[in-house]
Amino acid sequence: MGDAPLTGLLATLPLPTLAIDTAQRIVALNPPAGRLFGVAVVNRHFTTVLRQPVLVRAIEACLKDDTARQAPYLKRTAGRDGTYDVHVQRIGADRPVVLSFQDMTQHTDAGQMRRDFVANVSHELRTPLTSLMGFIETLRGAARDDASARDRFLGIMEAEAGRMNRLVGDLLSLSRVEADERVRPTDALNLTDVLQTTLRNISPLADQAHVEIMADVPSQPLRVLGDGDQLQQVFANLIENAIKYGGDHQRVQICASTETYDRTLRAPAVQIDITDSGPGIAPEHLPRLTERFYRADSHRSRAMGGTGLGLAIVKHILNRHRGRLKITSEVGKGACFTVTLPLDMGEDS
Ligand SMILES: Nc1ncnc2c1ncn2[C@@H]1O[C@H](COP(=O)(O)OP(=O)(O)OP(=O)(O)O)[C@@H](O)[C@H]1O
Ligand SMILES: [Mg+2]
Repeated sequence: MGDAPLTGLLATLPLPTLAIDTAQRIVALNPPAGRLFGVAVVNRHFTTVLRQPVLVRAIEACLKDDTARQAPYLKRTAGRDGTYDVHVQRIGADRPVVLSFQDMTQHTDAGQMRRDFVANVSHELRTPLTSLMGFIETLRGAARDDASARDRFLGIMEAEAGRMNRLVGDLLSLSRVEADERVRPTDALNLTDVLQTTLRNISPLADQAHVEIMADVPSQPLRVLGDGDQLQQVFANLIENAIKYGGDHQRVQICASTETYDRTLRAPAVQIDITDSGPGIAPEHLPRLTERFYRADSHRSRAMGGTGLGLAIVKHILNRHRGRLKITSEVGKGACFTVTLPLDMGEDS
């Protein structure tokens, strides 16, 4: 049966809301609450539906003393844990108590992400810092008069300080990219030039690792609206990764091609594939690679001085450019990172 006028009133409210009468039965609920608890809960005793002690106590207390209360409520829907703030208030003396459920899940998730991020940054900085402090102590004490040990230790200290410097640089870069993620770039530039400059800058690294870079880039200009420095950063990180993780003495292929219509971008697009022939990446890592500090092989990545922020920066830059990153890989058969960017057709198109 339920309470029809009350049901009509609750139906006007956007939050999941339900009413419990003085006999402690659920007498009305609106469609959002129906989706949360099922419509069959009408006329049931509220404790059979809302079983969590804190909320149950708040409702009982409110029915007794007419004072509004706030209580938390956890509910698992569609495989996800949801956190709600429930406002419990009586309409009036001898009238039902109304509960409205405010979904705090995103808020809680954002808080958790912020805490994780701070914990990660601290941990990443602490490791090289601890090592630096250890070496300073050794240089002051045991290795004071040992010239060869001193040289070796200073070399390690330089590398550790370099790692900290890279980490801080990447963090600043990430926060800058995030800050202007919603500002679309307006400069028209030729992606071929960006790729050539990146390849020139990276060639010493490739030579050092005896990696042969094969570039297959069309000779006609590839016009995109973009931020040249940021796009260079994208390709530098992807090519650097291919060199670092693909292993020495291999081949890295860079291939650019255009398509007249990309279905996801709904526009003409340019696609750049960066393919290595290294060990590849196991499927369970693929969806997480663009998370901050995520490393597929953390020991190897750290040993190479990686911060684990490169692909997170790439993803943000591509978002800003309305572009996409696709990663495909089979273990043992190398990896392919595909960047897709919308082509700028100019004003005459
Ligand atoms: N071509 C690749 N082959 C195999 N693994 C890769 C490849 N590219 C990236 N990875 C894996 O993805 C992880 C994340 O890469 P990302 O560029 O974000 O960080 P990084 O290279 O460790 O650090 P940074 O780019 O800041 O120097 C790497 O640590 C590595 O484990
Ligand atoms: Mg990298």
